[in-house]
Amino acid sequence: EFVIVNGEFIERSEVKIDMEDRGYQFGDGVYEVIRVYNGKMFTANEHLNRLIESGKKIKMDISYTVEEMKEMLNKLIQKNNLDLGTIYMQITRGTAPRNHVFPGDHVLPTFVANTKEAARPIENMKSGVKTILNEDIRWLLCDIKSLNLLGNLMAKQKAVEAGCFEAIQHRNGTVTEGSLSNVLIVKDGKVITHPADNLVLNGITRQKVLEICRNNGMSYEETTFTLDDLNAADEVFISGTTTEVTPVIEIEGNKVGDGTPGPITKKLQELFEKEIE
Ligand code: PDD
Repeated sequence: EFVIVNGEFIERSEVKIDMEDRGYQFGDGVYEVIRVYNGKMFTANEHLNRLIESGKKIKMDISYTVEEMKEMLNKLIQKNNLDLGTIYMQITRGTAPRNHVFPGDHVLPTFVANTKEAARPIENMKSGVKTILNEDIRWLLCDIKSLNLLGNLMAKQKAVEAGCFEAIQHRNGTVTEGSLSNVLIVKDGKVITHPADNLVLNGITRQKVLEICRNNGMSYEETTFTLDDLNAADEVFISGTTTEVTPVIEIEGNKVGDGTPGPITKKLQELFEKEIE
């Protein structure tokens, strides 16, 4: 299995990352997860542009262009013979003696990427998933795809311990997003999701779903909605690179609608499926 470390392709067992890498000590870096279907990256430009933007937001300059990164990642897909799976990549602020202050431009970022075989979440997409509610206690820069995922991990872990797939997070009664997905509801035929501000990650899948709505005359709105709106929704679903479009059929033990995936969610799944072919 090959991986990329700072532009070089090496065997995974050969990787040497310094224990004072700032990603390891501080979570000082940004990352992306890109889906690979049929040996090809899906929405690579969007993910890589977001990576660069995330970098800018933490004052970290990513020296690679989108084209350069795409070339490297495509080579990695080929070397690892990946047909269906994901690419994980992260860039940290590099290795320097531990200090809260940024190390300065002489320290080069550490860029790593690896691939993983992963099936599509067929069962969840078909049957839908159960969820819990969880107070969103994360920081106020959730638009950055930062390596600091402890808040998300704790939310996900709580969901799994409750026998559920995802935690739907909320701040003061306003629904934000899941632990690894965006949350969308359907009310009276309209798809509603939290605006792409500092409180949520502007998911690429979320953007794709909204684009699909736009191109197919389905009405949608990017606006905040409350826990009451969530509980009164006709349909609820989550979106994400690994979750695609997955129906939510239960929240805290209460059925969403009649407890089965709704028609608009199914229609969006169908249209999303066409995009990835
Ligand atoms: N998670 N919100 C959060 C907090 C996420 O971590 C993710 C993705 C999303 C959906 O974004 P996108 O559609 O661009 O994948 C929303 C990735 C897959 C992960 O951490 O594994």
